[in-house]
Amino acid sequence: MELGLDKKKVIVTGGSRGIGKSILQNMVDEGAAVATCARGEEALNAALESWRASGAKAYGSALDVTNEQQYSDWFSQSLEQLGGLDVFVSNVTSRITTKGNQRWQDTFEVDLMQHIRATELAIPYLKQGDNPSIVYISSIASVMTTNMPTETEYGVMKAALISYATQLATKLGKDNIRVNLVSPGPIYHDGGFWQMVEKNQPELFTRAKAVSVFNRLGTAQEVANAVTFLASPAASNITGANLRVDGGAIKTVNF
Ligand SMILES: NC(=O)c1ccc[n+]([C@@H]2O[C@H](COP(=O)([O-])OP(=O)(O)OC[C@H]3O[C@@H](n4cnc5c(N)ncnc54)[C@H](OP(=O)(O)O)[C@@H]3O)[C@@H](O)[C@H]2O)c1
Repeated sequence: MELGLDKKKVIVTGGSRGIGKSILQNMVDEGAAVATCARGEEALNAALESWRASGAKAYGSALDVTNEQQYSDWFSQSLEQLGGLDVFVSNVTSRITTKGNQRWQDTFEVDLMQHIRATELAIPYLKQGDNPSIVYISSIASVMTTNMPTETEYGVMKAALISYATQLATKLGKDNIRVNLVSPGPIYHDGGFWQMVEKNQPELFTRAKAVSVFNRLGTAQEVANAVTFLASPAASNITGANLRVDGGAIKTVNF
């Protein structure tokens, strides 16, 4: 199947490891020019170097997406470097360590508000784009009532992101901009949350595996494949979708 991503101009946030990095690798393999960001410079530069070494146009800077000014400066710079925008994948999350009201505020900033601010920056450029689309990374935590206590705020913001994106899909139809989401279940990757759990909380890790009908965690590549398809012109009649990549973890009929 031809995805039609060759020469597309793509921004994916949080590309230094995990799901974001796998999405970018897919985009580079498909011939897209890419831009990304992360807070940690070393891992970000290593990823960018590997893509450039394979001949790709790959841009990026270290910054914190919750810093409004830094983020909008980087976004404008990326649009300039890419020469426009066809695909925006809003992927960043962070582990929040604050407590109480501050935890709600911090989770709101990282798991909802920064996605919305970036979308507002992206829309005028996507309107000029070629087969333009947006994909947000949500989570099955958005529909679960049995999240870990540390994931209450995260689940609420990921649910709000699904509502926001689905409304946006309707609004942007007239501009031919498609808007979709991917909701992963527990995903195992190097340097990721579940690798830490495997080491420090083996019982929780075993329970996380058991929610999948395959009795395993997913991979970043499996999520990236779903994102790459939804972002691509091959998904030209799909908008407003929320595709779970969770090994059948959510036991409801998905009408
Ligand atoms: N892994 C899972 O089990 C799972 C399950 C469901 C949903 N998801 C969703 O999938 C997406 C990616 O997850 P992941 O596991 O790949 O995450 P991850 O391992 O935490 O990677 C997140 C990426 O974003 C960057 N980042 C984090 N906070 C940032 C900030 N404030 N500003 C700029 N960059 C920042 C990270 O680099 P730095 O740390 O250097 O900034 C890294 O490149 C997230 O939306 C997450 O909620 C993941």
